[in-house]
Amino acid sequence: MGPGPSNVNPRILEAMSRPTIGHLDPQFVGMMDEVKELLHYAFQTNNPLTIPVSAPGSAGMETCFVNLVEPGDTVIVCQNGVFGGRMRENVERCGATPIMVEDAWGAPVDPQKLEDALKAHPQARVTAFVHAETSTGAQSDAATLVALAHEHDCLTIVDTVTSLGGTPVLVDEWAADAVYSGTQKCLSCTPGLSPVSFGERAVDAVKARKTKVQSWFLDLNLVMGYWGPNSKRAYHHTAPVNALYGLHEALAILRDEGLEHAWARHDANHQALKAGLEAMGLEFLVQDKYRLPQLNAVMVPESVDEAAVRARLLAEFNLEIGAGLGDLAGKVWRIGLMGYSSNPGNVLYCISALEAVLGSLGAPIQQGAALSATEYQLTVGTDQPR
Ligand SMILES: Cc1ncc(COP(=O)(O)O)c(C=O)c1O
Repeated sequence: MGPGPSNVNPRILEAMSRPTIGHLDPQFVGMMDEVKELLHYAFQTNNPLTIPVSAPGSAGMETCFVNLVEPGDTVIVCQNGVFGGRMRENVERCGATPIMVEDAWGAPVDPQKLEDALKAHPQARVTAFVHAETSTGAQSDAATLVALAHEHDCLTIVDTVTSLGGTPVLVDEWAADAVYSGTQKCLSCTPGLSPVSFGERAVDAVKARKTKVQSWFLDLNLVMGYWGPNSKRAYHHTAPVNALYGLHEALAILRDEGLEHAWARHDANHQALKAGLEAMGLEFLVQDKYRLPQLNAVMVPESVDEAAVRARLLAEFNLEIGAGLGDLAGKVWRIGLMGYSSNPGNVLYCISALEAVLGSLGAPIQQGAALSATEYQLTVGTDQPR
């Protein structure tokens, strides 16, 4: 129950243990087409260029930057946590100039600040932001940010690593140009693949580049020879065959559950966790309306050694929760309720284990009320999807 990887659904592990066939085998090629179809559903897009990159989420991020950014470009990067910082690194390594739009860690990206930056830097070609900041648990308003960027003729790069499958990712409705995600969060697959989707304007920009994409491996012009619509399925790299079996199964599970149901489930389990945590007297970092149900950043009470609590949860309860990153190190715990891990049993287990450990350490919490508050919330549920 950390910030990812989440627990992997056994159906996925079973799929991954099937015999490895050739990455050009007709059956495998047929499965690749199904993976693309299923990704269209998960991302809510009709973009033909929607494929899994053969490497983890950071490679999806890098795919977007190296294909869309050229040396000398100006790129606006919104940062409200760790991963906006990684975007900045990408921009600099592409030989471009990042213009940083900073917000407090725990707050969403402020559209007004983005608009000010777009007006101040009319030469900017690309705007990038993280939809769901895993380091803080804050969700930003992707539709508004994309619309603002478009008003100023900027392409958009959107990180949906933690949101995909957990909260709405509506690529076509947002009109986002390049989006990437990961497999190990709300898809509950093993880590190591990064689904990406490029819209028409982004594809045109890749084709119109003046310079070669600096990464051979991530150059979409080459990757598309293997994955692309109407491609000849020419060898580019040896696809991670069994990892793709796993992604296929994960996406089929998501399709069978239905996106709306998956979003509602994440929300209901978050509400139950919240009821228990608040009954103990614990507080969240992020304001309610910006909070990600799948990533709960909880303030560590005064005088509590947060690392000792995590160590005991792991040793005594076999339960992993995450630590704070950067400025939030020592100040928050990050409790994940992602994908297969987002279920009532886990919520009850986490609340009771946390209460037991905090109680035995003499932490200043309310004892005895958390489990019944969680149970009550699970019973009444939520009929108001966020
Ligand atoms: C928001 C976000 N972006 C990017 C990444 C990088 O993904 P990966 O660790 O799979 O490379 C992560 C990983 O946690 C993330 O949470």
